[in-house]
Amino acid sequence: MTVYGSFPGARPRRLRTTSAMRRMVAETRLNPADLILPAFVREGVSEPVPIAAMPGVVQHSLDTLRKAAVEAREAGVSGIMLFGVPEDSKKDAAGTAGTDPGGILQVAIRAVKEEVGDELVVMSDLCLDEYTDHGHCGVLDAGGRVDNDATLARYAEMARVQADAGVHVVGPSGMMDGQVRVIRDALDTIGKEDVSILAYTAKYSSAFYGPFREAVASSLEGDRKTYQQDPANLRESLRELALDLEEGADMVMVKPAGPCLDVLARVAESADVPVAAYQISGEYAMIEAAAEKGWIERDKAILETLTGIRRAGAQMILTYWATEVAQKLGGARR
Ligand code: PBG
Repeated sequence: MTVYGSFPGARPRRLRTTSAMRRMVAETRLNPADLILPAFVREGVSEPVPIAAMPGVVQHSLDTLRKAAVEAREAGVSGIMLFGVPEDSKKDAAGTAGTDPGGILQVAIRAVKEEVGDELVVMSDLCLDEYTDHGHCGVLDAGGRVDNDATLARYAEMARVQADAGVHVVGPSGMMDGQVRVIRDALDTIGKEDVSILAYTAKYSSAFYGPFREAVASSLEGDRKTYQQDPANLRESLRELALDLEEGADMVMVKPAGPCLDVLARVAESADVPVAAYQISGEYAMIEAAAEKGWIERDKAILETLTGIRRAGAQMILTYWATEVAQKLGGARR
């Protein structure tokens, strides 16, 4: 007697016989609307500047940033996350350029909003490392340690100027304790209740941020281990999640994505808000470099990583390939 629940009755390969069949039974689908494009904009340049460690990614001029935003929207991408790269001479210990209403990020937010209005979700990195001369995500105390509470005051000010520039979502990425609460309070106090917070909830101290430091021209002395999480820890992310939700996060993010799929799955299981993952610069660089050498098939590898990140539980994915992938997926806004 054939037992259909086991071999030879059960043959899972039947559902893999044709590409139409595989497409029909696929459990995870990528949609352009899942994707968010991180973009760098550099002050004082009229031409985009290539980033050597991220082939295909540039530090935009304001002009090409506008074009990239339009292109992303046309491809069906949901949002754009902006990072400012100030002129070197404007970096200082307090990261003043980050709170200058005329600072590059604020100017970029205004430019992108003018270009795409509300048709693309405009997001901004809320962190000091792009603006400090020492490269840390906060201000330092007399002993050279990142001062949590003094940094929070700077973040509150950043939230206010970014909101004034018209941003829809701020993305605090500095991993200071209490950052979500302080930013929420700052926004509400100036009547910006509608500006959302995408909290970098589980952000690990990762070797894969390397190319990003070139992208924002940051010269970090030391490391970020006193504020970013140890990759050895999972439970700690659940604690960060509980705190961020309690402090008022509207959306939460896990970063990096590929090395932290288990964290992503656990966060997605427990969070009652939208969950994002950030496929970071080093994840991008690895695939581009291996593909350049002819060691892997680039397009397939990209789709496989993004599908894996979706499968692990991310509803939204920040990826430098957002526009390209959205175009390949068909482009139509759904
Ligand atoms: C901090 C920040 C970083 C990234 C996004 N926000 C760098 C860091 O924490 O060292 C990394 C993004 C990437 O590597 O693609 N402002």
